Amino acid sequence: MDRSGKIGVFDSGFGGLTVLRAIVQELPNYNYVYFGDNARAPYGNKSFERIYEYTLEGVTFLFNQGCELVILACNTASAKALRTIQQRVLPLKFPNQRVLGVIRPSTEEIETFTRTGKVGILGTEGTINSKSYLLELAKISPKIEVFQQACPLWVPLIEERQYNSTAGKLIFASDIERLFQKNNAIDTVILACTHYPIITSILEEIIQGRAKLIEQGPLVANKLRDYLERHPTLEKTLKKEFQLQFFSTEQEDYFNDHATEIFGARVCVQQINLA
Ligand code: DGL
Repeated sequence: MDRSGKIGVFDSGFGGLTVLRAIVQELPNYNYVYFGDNARAPYGNKSFERIYEYTLEGVTFLFNQGCELVILACNTASAKALRTIQQRVLPLKFPNQRVLGVIRPSTEEIETFTRTGKVGILGTEGTINSKSYLLELAKISPKIEVFQQACPLWVPLIEERQYNSTAGKLIFASDIERLFQKNNAIDTVILACTHYPIITSILEEIIQGRAKLIEQGPLVANKLRDYLERHPTLEKTLKKEFQLQFFSTEQEDYFNDHATEIFGARVCVQQINLA
């Protein structure tokens, strides 16, 4: 069976589905493979070495499924593993395949959203400590002042589907207040973790219009369209059969229920074991 010509989307768990959803909306005709490493999530509080190892395993799995291009739909993996994979692994082991991250596409348009020039970043500990957003925005929009807040409990709450609990909502509110305490003129907040759009309605209730919440999915989908237009040789290798496949390290029933809700269409996953 010829399994080539696919686009892979990788995340530590459910979050990447918010990116896949936007990509499929923007570019519906390609063949996509999603892989969520739910059983080993969260990645955000793990060591650099562990995040790199898990991300490389995920990317290799997707290449073996026939992906020509893999999107790391995970900020933590993009911050910690993307560059090493692009610079050291691809040239040696997968010279014809490509891996793209979500941080750069999420920063390129930020200037168009903010009026005060004060931008907040909410992300995992790994993403925030990497300072990737600070560095990227300093290059692209040096006039913007950036304020960051790590939210270490958000991904566990979302993966465990505990986000509607009273404790969960208190945790979201307290991290958001901490961000606004850093500067209350923040008018734009990047949800710099692909899990966070799953709880947008809860976050909006807490923020009460103080700032615009930026979800990465549509930004990444837009940039992917550009990228494919600029790389016609790669684009020609991609099949256009409207196919979707899902893999996860999580149990099938648990994954399907939550994923179907997030993705907005029925998801039928195959469980795999990477370890
Ligand atoms: N969706 C991942 C991200 O964008 C969550 C990482 C984690 O598992 O902590 O960072």
